[in-house]
Amino acid sequence: DWTMAGYREEATRKIREQVGNSKVICGLSGGVDSSVAAVLIHEAIGDQLTCVFVDHGLLRKGEAEQVVSMFRDHYNIPLIHADESERFLTALEGLDDPEAKRKTIGRLFIDVFQEHAREVGGAEFLAQGTLYPDVIESVSFSGGPSVTIKSHHNVGGLPEKMGLKLVEPLRELFKDEVRDLGRELGLPESFIRRHPFPGPGLAIRCPGAITREKLAILREADAVYIDQIRRHGLYDEIWQAFAAILPMRTVGVMGDGRTYDYALALRAVTSVDGMTADYYPFTHEFLSETATRIINEVRGVNRVFYDCTSKPPGTIELE
Ligand code: XMP
Repeated sequence: DWTMAGYREEATRKIREQVGNSKVICGLSGGVDSSVAAVLIHEAIGDQLTCVFVDHGLLRKGEAEQVVSMFRDHYNIPLIHADESERFLTALEGLDDPEAKRKTIGRLFIDVFQEHAREVGGAEFLAQGTLYPDVIESVSFSGGPSVTIKSHHNVGGLPEKMGLKLVEPLRELFKDEVRDLGRELGLPESFIRRHPFPGPGLAIRCPGAITREKLAILREADAVYIDQIRRHGLYDEIWQAFAAILPMRTVGVMGDGRTYDYALALRAVTSVDGMTADYYPFTHEFLSETATRIINEVRGVNRVFYDCTSKPPGTIELE
């Protein structure tokens, strides 16, 4: 009968068989999927694998440090940490259309990844943490016609362009199975339970024009919000939670002064696979405590909204 330990053994055997003595590169996003894929492949072929982590300047607070330290220090997996934030943020300047943002990020990601992959020298394979639902979702959205609602950012098109073959050891798995496999491989529980984070990162949580100032505010506010969720023991009950910074300033009052600062939207949903989702029913106490903390602790925010839209009709991200 089927066990995760059996899957692990079978998967490593298949990877060795597919790859032989060739080199493999793997793009890390900091998410669970690409991390599990990388650790599994490293188990199979050791230092024939090199990971490339592209920091596009759209990560959350502390995220780059966490990913780099886990892979380099904890797992000792060869890792190229490419800090390309200036390049991405400059390219995104002035863009406010959601699909234009995704396309710019996707295109630049390919360029940057390709440049750094050359450092590896002679890689024949590209590893991706593609899951079974990704395979389906790219074909059609369930219950609807076959239309693309959002062009999900992945490294599509890259393998052909670089003449690389794909290694996708998670292609048959669902998210919860990937988490089990991660546990089986000894990834820390805190990492395995991390909420999903989209490839385009904070760009799609900053509707309207992206500025460095807004990103800095958003990073701080999101960290306070997630800290609140953890302190209240709610993190594992929620499928995904994040703050978004809205493209507007509103008037407020603080002490005896008038403020004119950004408004934030908080989002939290429960879901099984991200295809449909319900907004999370926080208590009023939680919401008011969180709004107060954010406004007190984060400069530049004077108003907080809670998004109570489910999916459908809303999507999980704001863009
Ligand atoms: P939506 O907003 O489409 O999100 O309801 C469903 C899930 O997908 C993630 N998401 C993305 N992931 N690139 C990604 O890698 C994207 O462009 C993208 N857009 C949404 C989202 O975070 C949620 O988990």
